[in-house]
Amino acid sequence: MSAIENSKLTVVGAGAVGSSVAYASLIRKSARHVALYDIAAARVEAEVLDLAHGSQFTGSSDIIGGDDLDVTAGSHVIVITAGAAQKPGQTRTDLAGVNANILRSLVPNLLERSPDAVFVVVTNPADVMAVVAQEVSGLPRERVFSSGTVLDTSRLRWKIAQRAGVSISSVHAYIVGEHGDTEFPLWSHATIGTVPILEWVPQDGQPKFTVDELDQIAVDVRDAAYKVIQGKGATNYAIGLSGARIVEAILQDEHTVMPVSTVLEDFHGVSGVALSVPAVVSAAGAQPIRETTFSASELALFRRSADALREVAAGLS
Ligand code: 2OP
Repeated sequence: MSAIENSKLTVVGAGAVGSSVAYASLIRKSARHVALYDIAAARVEAEVLDLAHGSQFTGSSDIIGGDDLDVTAGSHVIVITAGAAQKPGQTRTDLAGVNANILRSLVPNLLERSPDAVFVVVTNPADVMAVVAQEVSGLPRERVFSSGTVLDTSRLRWKIAQRAGVSISSVHAYIVGEHGDTEFPLWSHATIGTVPILEWVPQDGQPKFTVDELDQIAVDVRDAAYKVIQGKGATNYAIGLSGARIVEAILQDEHTVMPVSTVLEDFHGVSGVALSVPAVVSAAGAQPIRETTFSASELALFRRSADALREVAAGLS
């Protein structure tokens, strides 16, 4: 496959997250055409207008939208953000029941209008929703996946870069597992440049990282969304940028490694749940990298993440 010309992205859901994915995609020129769909006609039309009014500054991408599903037709990538959003005090998995029903209704209608699309699920709990969407679509696993811990990994790299005094692009570290409370950093593969993180000497004379400090960074990253939601009611900018970046990797057929969440099949003994591990993202979708290794403690955390999500999935009607 090669980069998709005249590409079309549809974002489903014109709430804070969906509008931010659309906005980021226009600014980054992630797709040639962007469509925004929502059942709330007044809201989606207002968001489309507001986005279109900035067209002079975003250049080549164009934005359309509305409450008619036909506006989604012919999409190459569909980012699904529709559903109830986490409120202060709620966990992502509290949303599973209501959002599973929304996706079960939406996905077949979207697929009928865009039979070749790659689906990226952002709706939370994203990993569980990716399984629901993949099952109801009947598509191959690589074509229906979730943004997973791409956002969490960005949070982790930002915190490490700030502390280490280096560019974020030189921080090579991943959050894996659930996009949620059981996520964890793959410290066994974390480096700054080629230097393992515990051996890095910060550029500004600060002391080296300690294990306790890395543990605290992991907790801060895991709980980051709760803090933002408590303060402003939702998270949207960083997930918007994460979504736009994933869209680019698909439409440009980049074969970029990203920690998206795909339904796993005998991955270190885990099957039938979607979890984030480093995966190759291209026009074909997302392929988890089977050669990814875990330390013994990381493998235990990975399996704990899988068990937690199986429990949520079991509770779905
Ligand atoms: C986030 O992590 C709420 O899943 C969303 O920002």
